[in-house]
Amino acid sequence: MRKPVVAANWKMNGSLELCEHFSCELVRPEASDVWIFPTALHLRSLVDSFRESDIAIGAQNVWCEPEGAFTGEISARMVKNLGGQLALVGHSERRAMFGDSDTVVARKFKSIADAGLMPVLCVGETLEERESDSAFEAVQRQLNAVEEAWDCPDYSHKVIAYEPVWAIGTGKAATAEIAQEMQGLIRDHVDRRDSGEREELRILYGGSVKASNAAELIVQNDIDGFLVGGASLDVDEFNEICEAVKS
Ligand code: 13P
Repeated sequence: MRKPVVAANWKMNGSLELCEHFSCELVRPEASDVWIFPTALHLRSLVDSFRESDIAIGAQNVWCEPEGAFTGEISARMVKNLGGQLALVGHSERRAMFGDSDTVVARKFKSIADAGLMPVLCVGETLEERESDSAFEAVQRQLNAVEEAWDCPDYSHKVIAYEPVWAIGTGKAATAEIAQEMQGLIRDHVDRRDSGEREELRILYGGSVKASNAAELIVQNDIDGFLVGGASLDVDEFNEICEAVKS
């Protein structure tokens, strides 16, 4: 039985006041994991606030190396040192706007796992890829790039987030059928690579998740939780999404 996850990706939003607000108002999860990915500047505040709770805090992005002359970057080792437990990697905004190629994503993924953090690998197709019937090929290419870079491919203590680019920030979430179909294919893909982890691997859906659509998505067999962007900035709505996942 996979434990469901509700994860907040705050992107370049938030403030110390929002951190404080979440630490007071977020309803503690019962049967699910709750993770928050704030900006690097707000990691420390949330780690301190949630130290005594089950809520885990992670970075949205790290560089590939543990330390060195990389002005402006942070490393997975530093996130770990601060008390962070996870890191996103391969988010489509990083791929599209900051040049995170499949190769860079693979290196970052490895640095996150090597530092002892849990990587949350984001994959997803563009609208063009979906409309040309190559959605799964695009996702498979992103998975293959990371898997080929590992010495020993395995998915234990790792999470995949399926985030179709056309659903991110558009208000148009994938239908439950589309999300389920792709996430089933992702699980089959993982199974072909390394049997045994098929049932344990958690696959999240992200892209315009809201309190109003969480319930219909979470009942799908291969949707194990959500990576929520815009709706995660409102603690009441985020609590409602957590509630929908729990019940
Ligand atoms: P939205 O929920 O704002 O569509 O963003 C999804 C996302 O990118 C989460 O990583």
